[in-house]
Amino acid sequence: MKKVMKILGMVLGTVVLLLAGFCAYVAAVDLPAYDIPALPKTTVAVTLARVARGEVIAQIQCMSCHADKDNRVTGKHLAEVPDLFGKLYSKNITQDKQKGIGNWTDGELIYFLRTGIRRDGSYAPIMPQYPNMADEDLQSVVAWLRSDRFPVQASQQEPQASELSFVSKLLMHTLMKPLPYPQQFIAKPDSNNQVALGRYTADAIGDCFACHSGDMIDQDKIHPEKTKGYYGGGIEMVGEGGQKVITPNLTFDEQTGIAQKYSKEQFIRAVKQGVRPDGTILKYPMEPKMVLSDREVGAIYEYLKTVPKIQNDIAKKTAELQLAKK
Ligand code: HEC
Ligand code: HEC
Repeated sequence: MKKVMKILGMVLGTVVLLLAGFCAYVAAVDLPAYDIPALPKTTVAVTLARVARGEVIAQIQCMSCHADKDNRVTGKHLAEVPDLFGKLYSKNITQDKQKGIGNWTDGELIYFLRTGIRRDGSYAPIMPQYPNMADEDLQSVVAWLRSDRFPVQASQQEPQASELSFVSKLLMHTLMKPLPYPQQFIAKPDSNNQVALGRYTADAIGDCFACHSGDMIDQDKIHPEKTKGYYGGGIEMVGEGGQKVITPNLTFDEQTGIAQKYSKEQFIRAVKQGVRPDGTILKYPMEPKMVLSDREVGAIYEYLKTVPKIQNDIAKKTAELQLAKK
C-alpha cells in the first residue's frame, strides 16, 4: 500500500511540476510566432461591384470591431470581450502607411483574413478568420479597404496594443490557433439554392455561429457545423454598460428555439432591424444587419430549419442570471 501511495505521489508530483513548467513557459515566451510562406502576388482589381459587396461584408464584420465613433476604422477597445481575456484593442486598418495597413500587400491581407497570421508572423487573437468566405467576396473586402470610401481613408490615429491576460496567452498556445491557408479556390454558393445561400451567409459571412453556439473559444472554424452546440446559443457575453447577455438558441427546437417565436418575415425584421416580434429591441452585441438583403436573411431562416435541434432554454438561463445579480 505504502509503495502504491509513493508511486501515486510521484506521479502527481510530476504532473504538478509539468503543469507549473508549462505555465511558466507560457508566461515567459509570451506569444507564439508563425512562419509565413511565399504569398501569392495577387493584386485585387478594385471595381465598383467589388467595393459595394465589400462594403456589405465590412458593415456586418469589420466595422463593428474596428470603427471608432466617427465611423472610421482606426480601431478601438473591444468592451464586449470578457475581462478574463484581457483588454483587447482592434487596430487601425485605414490606408495610412505608418499607423494603418497602407503598406500591406493584397496577398498579405488575404493571407491574414484567412489564417489570422499577420505579415510579421504574429497571430491576432479574437479577430475572426474567414476560412470559408468565397475568394470573390474576400477580394471584395480588400477592394473596399483600398477604395475611396470614408471609413478607410488614411488616419494617423495611433493603434493601441492589446493587453492579453494569462488565459489568452495560454489559449494562444492551445485552442486559439491560426488556420491553414486554403489550398483550393472557394466559389460562391448557388444563389438559387436557399439552404446553401443561407448556410454561406450565416457561417462564412455573418459569423452568426461564432456567437450563437455553445462556446466562444472552442469552435470549428473550418467546419462550423461541427462546433459544439452549433446554433444552440448559451454564450454569456458582455453587453451595453457591462450588462451580461446570453446568446439565444437559433435552432428550430419547438420549446426553446426560435421556431415558436418567429415567422420568416419576423426573423428578417429581427436580424435586419434588431426588433423582436413583441417590439423589444435586441441588445448589443447583436447588431442590426441592415445591409444584408431580405433574400439572404430569409435564406438563413431556411438554413436554420435544417440544423439539428438543440434543447437549450436561454430564457431560463437569463432569468437565473438576473436572480444571481440581486
Ligand atoms: C470581433 C472583432 C473583429 C472583427 C469582426 C474584425 N476584426 Fe480585425 N482585428 C480585431 C482584433 C482584436 C485585431 C488584433 C488585435 C491585436 O492583435 O492585438 C484585429 C486586427 C486586424 C488586422 C491587423 C492589423 C495590424 O496592424 O496588426 C487587420 C488587417 C484587420 N483586423 C482587418 C479586419 C477586416 C478587413 C475585418 C472585416 C472583414 C475585420 N478585421 C474584422 C478585431 C476584429
Ligand atoms: C457578436 C455576437 C453575435 C453575432 C455575430 C450574431 N448575434 Fe444574434 N444575438 C446575439 C446576442 C447577444 C443576442 C441576444 C440579444 C438580446 O438578448 O437582446 C442575439 C439575438 C439574436 C436574435 C433574436 C433571438 C431571440 O431570442 O429573440 C436573432 C434572430 C439573431 N440574433 C440572429 C443572428 C443572425 C442571423 C446572425 C448572423 C447574421 C447573428 N445573430 C449574429 C449575438 C450575436
